[in-house]
Amino acid sequence: MKRDNQLFAVHNFAKRQLGSDRSGHGFDHIERVVNMAKKILTKENADPLITLSAAYLHDVSDEKLFDDPEEQGQLILRLLTEHAFSPAQIEEITAIIKNLSFSKTLNNKTQRLSLAGQIVQDADRLDAIGAIGITRAIYYGGKHAETIYDPNIAPREKMTKEEYRNLDNETIINHFYEKLLKLKDMMNTKTAKKIAAGRQKIMLDYLNQFKAEWSAEK
Ligand code: ADP
Ligand code: NI
Repeated sequence: MKRDNQLFAVHNFAKRQLGSDRSGHGFDHIERVVNMAKKILTKENADPLITLSAAYLHDVSDEKLFDDPEEQGQLILRLLTEHAFSPAQIEEITAIIKNLSFSKTLNNKTQRLSLAGQIVQDADRLDAIGAIGITRAIYYGGKHAETIYDPNIAPREKMTKEEYRNLDNETIINHFYEKLLKLKDMMNTKTAKKIAAGRQKIMLDYLNQFKAEWSAEK
């Protein structure tokens, strides 16, 4: 089937682009996002080819991961064109990739996402919370030499994109209050809201236990 071949090409491309990533956006993250998007698609009436292609490609032109995101954008355009995606399909997929990230939402620059985009956004956000989310936060924090926790540094609310990026005294635990615990209420679809509620509980239990251990209570 043409659609399966198109998706396979997109899968292979994303794997080549992100396979060596060690910042928490590796191909394992992509496969979890794709699998979650598939699950949400069983309840939502969005186009699977658009949704899953955008899920595979959503980090391939991220400015945090690539020195030249413009060039990455061109590679995506070439890939989709070569595999006979229509101009309308290409437009929707690239609009999703551009508008998805949390930091853009902070600046209110986001255009309203299509349903396919909302599904990918939910799947991407779900991968930042729960047990996987805890693991990714610690992995990221270690790589960026963050402190684990400092009770004297209060979590910061409502930061701009630049402030969020340039925090020099971020702690792993504060990242939960500044970002991860907020994601639950930002889910678009019913399916994601339900899953997020369970994952929120895991994070809250973890934070409670962490603080109890920190102060030798338990
Ligand atoms: P996105 O996947 O939306 O582009 P990021 O690149 O900001 O998000 O984050 C990738 C992973 O690293 C996420 O799981 C996120 O929670 C975690 N992370 C991002 N910033 C921090 C931070 N300052 N401290 C700890 N974990 C972080
Ligand atoms: Ni992602």
